[in-house]
Amino acid sequence: MRVAVTGGAGYIGSVVTEVLESDGHQVLVIDNLSKGHRDAVAGAFAKIDLRDRTAVAAALGEFGADAVVHMAASSLVGESVGDPAPYYDNNLAAGLSLLDAMRDAGVSRLVFSSTAAVYGDPERQPIDEMDATRPTNPYGETKLAFERALRWYAGAYGLSSTSLRYFNAAGATAAHGEAHDPETHLIPLALNVADGRLPFVTIFGTDYATPDGTCIRDYVHVEDLARAHVLAMNALTERGLCRTYNLGCGGRGYSVREVIDAAARVTGCEIPVRVADRRAGDPAVLIASSARIRRDLQWMPRHQDLDIIVGSAWTWMREHAPGGIPS
Ligand code: UFG
Repeated sequence: MRVAVTGGAGYIGSVVTEVLESDGHQVLVIDNLSKGHRDAVAGAFAKIDLRDRTAVAAALGEFGADAVVHMAASSLVGESVGDPAPYYDNNLAAGLSLLDAMRDAGVSRLVFSSTAAVYGDPERQPIDEMDATRPTNPYGETKLAFERALRWYAGAYGLSSTSLRYFNAAGATAAHGEAHDPETHLIPLALNVADGRLPFVTIFGTDYATPDGTCIRDYVHVEDLARAHVLAMNALTERGLCRTYNLGCGGRGYSVREVIDAAARVTGCEIPVRVADRRAGDPAVLIASSARIRRDLQWMPRHQDLDIIVGSAWTWMREHAPGGIPS
């Protein structure tokens, strides 16, 4: 298939592109490079902003796209609470512009990167796709708004889509890993401390109702996450489908302290911590039930061990980010 990947110069997008190409698909990365890295893209690339409907439609048409994987987004929970406007603009307005461009170009298959943040502070764990969606931050709110648009576009325009609600993407392949600027994610920050580039990791809140008082998340290896996109895309065989799947690891989560301990084990380095107040918008626990995608698409995560996930990020960081992750 010929697949356009928006946000393909970013962390998860570059791994999705790698896995699509290794499965024999042709990929065009569309990215405005506001966050992504040009050198993360080895193949076809178009620097286009998704708000430019005409340019996106022309690129999709010239490439002959059969499907789009839409990953370009603003994706920081804490930032979205303090500054929601770019989240509505990037995650909703730009996304709707992409859907218009797809209609112009006659492309009717979409895999959308959604998020566990659509659930807010859920009443039960693990969370399944039928649970209530009550986002506690603008990031989750805007992703949910786009998911809802997909449902209406399926009925009216025949758009076929699958929304993948990611829990916490982590780890790296040999070629691609995580390097945000600024970095805010727990695992790369902990590894940066292990490597001596930062003095300590801040723990945001130790007063949550969890066994050690710190937030619990479901860390899923980025390559497993990427494989789910290929399965989801291949399953969009009819017009007007609208599916939603959770993507977590194995039905258990790890606390912030457990992740920091794993980083210390994997690196053999001490990781000093400091405790700070809770970060705005953070739910206490997010653990996925991924039963639906396992059943429907036979998705099976290959890297479920936290030390292996953290170890892959450590290997990548040492080999590809010798100057350190920007902080
Ligand atoms: N955390 C710290 N200190 C830090 C950074 C993070 O204590 O310096 C904590 C956070 O408070 C949270 C956990 O570590 O409890 C994980 O935080 P991340 O920033 O690594 O990831 P998030 O859970 O905030 O968000 C990630 C993605 C989102 C996605 C979400 C779904 O960035 O896009 O997972 O669970 F929506």
